[in-house]
Amino acid sequence: MALKIPKIIGHRGAAAYAPENTLEGIRTAADMGIKWVELDVKLTKDQVPIIFHDEDLERITGSSGLIAQTNYEDLRDLDVGLWFGDSFSGLHIPTLEEAVDVLLEHNLGLNLEIKPCPGREKETAEVALDVLSQIWDDHDKLLISSFQHVSLEAALDVARDWARGLLIGGDELPENWRELADYLDVKTINIGSRLITPDLVADIHDLDLQCLVYTVNDPEEARMFQDWAVDALFSDAPDVIEDGLASIH
Ligand code: G3P
Ligand code: MG
Repeated sequence: MALKIPKIIGHRGAAAYAPENTLEGIRTAADMGIKWVELDVKLTKDQVPIIFHDEDLERITGSSGLIAQTNYEDLRDLDVGLWFGDSFSGLHIPTLEEAVDVLLEHNLGLNLEIKPCPGREKETAEVALDVLSQIWDDHDKLLISSFQHVSLEAALDVARDWARGLLIGGDELPENWRELADYLDVKTINIGSRLITPDLVADIHDLDLQCLVYTVNDPEEARMFQDWAVDALFSDAPDVIEDGLASIH
């Protein structure tokens, strides 16, 4: 397997330009020439893998309720575009399957972040990867990541051949990140921009892992990370970052 991660990954699609985690967002990233996108997957109450970031519906739909307590048919008609702008009204929460259809149509790679609702770490990975295994063939263009070690452990069990990425966020680097990376057999460390340093990039590379940094929307910062030899950046505004990177040449 030769994992081919591009320098820039569209975060939640292209979240600065289209509502996050929507089919429109994926199409927008593709139209911008972006090669991979990152999407968050979680399960509805009735175990349908959907593309959605938050545990609750409030921010994106304006409705109250938790994803983990709502069946797919009750989510299906909620509008997930209007909060972003009137012109995006009428968009719905995509299922993983619908998202993959659009990704394949545009020949895009995918970083699927397993984003389980609390207590559903194992089943979210198992169900999402089971669905994905039936519709996704290209191992070079797929990275499964999570902050949740239990989810990555489940991914290791059910889809050992698919590349995994260990997400690290917050304010402090866990002391045992090397042991975790080794145990979960990951190919990448996907780390928050506040935590990354040039030394850490070197440490990650010493372990033969790739270093991916989120979420970078400022071209100056992108240039700095490029100087540090960071392998890829997640960005809501991939075109801005691309311009930033190109301008040093
Ligand atoms: O996968 C990178 C990034 O998406 C992790 O944070 O909260 O945006 O899912 P979040
Ligand atoms: Mg994410």
